[in-house]
Amino acid sequence: MARAQLDKQPHEVAAMFDGVAERYDLTNDVLSLGQARLWRRAVREALDVRPGERVLDLAAGTGTSSEPLRAAGAFVVPTDFSLGMLRTGKRRQPHLPLVAGDALRLPFADGAFDAATISFGLRNVADVDAALRELLRVVRPGGRLVVCEFSHPTWAPFRTVYVEYLMRALPRVARAVSSEPDAYAYLAESIRAWPDQAGLARRLAAAGWGSVRWRDLTGGVVALHHGVRAG
Ligand SMILES: C[S@@+](CC[C@H](N)C(=O)[O-])C[C@H]1O[C@@H](n2cnc3c(N)ncnc32)[C@H](O)[C@@H]1O
Repeated sequence: MARAQLDKQPHEVAAMFDGVAERYDLTNDVLSLGQARLWRRAVREALDVRPGERVLDLAAGTGTSSEPLRAAGAFVVPTDFSLGMLRTGKRRQPHLPLVAGDALRLPFADGAFDAATISFGLRNVADVDAALRELLRVVRPGGRLVVCEFSHPTWAPFRTVYVEYLMRALPRVARAVSSEPDAYAYLAESIRAWPDQAGLARRLAAAGWGSVRWRDLTGGVVALHHGVRAG
């Protein structure tokens, strides 16, 4: 597999995730030192889903980010463009209605969802601003968006340690636990190139999302950005 560069050619990104699908969830738990579960719980709380609501989980991968939303009573539609991730997800969680679709041309009608979320996916999309506009299109007026993405630790000494951990340890640990260590070198590089909390908030607002705010998790390793589609 060719390593996906930061210009993110969609077929390379999809192929990269096809390659890591089988061990994706395990690798996540190991590399995040167990924090991934806390982050998923925080997404569910931030999205504040009510039973029966229609929720799009975009870039859902194997559906691990979708399951807590389903358990909270939502009708969740996990959508991803990596058939490898979807296949693994379908085998492990056959009850989830997984959909193949591209974030830049979602196969859903205008206003189809009460809420949408995207966990650790927006960073990988070739045109982030177009994806934010497409999410706005498929959410009804008054509907919510929660973006869960790696961000910038806010405390400078921790930020330094974190960048060292990312740059040096992560690809090495990934070599031990993942079938596709290059994918994790890409992960480290793409996290460094990603906008900080305020920068991403501006991108949401520019795409048309209202009431934009964010909350840091794990000291800003991850941030949850929240937006509302104006009524
Ligand atoms: C790091 S995984 C996150 C999976 C899941 N949301 C989670 O939290 O475990 C990122 C996912 O984004 C998907 N992805 C990237 N670009 C996409 C696009 N343009 N359309 C749909 N899915 C995309 C990849 O295929 C991959 O499954």
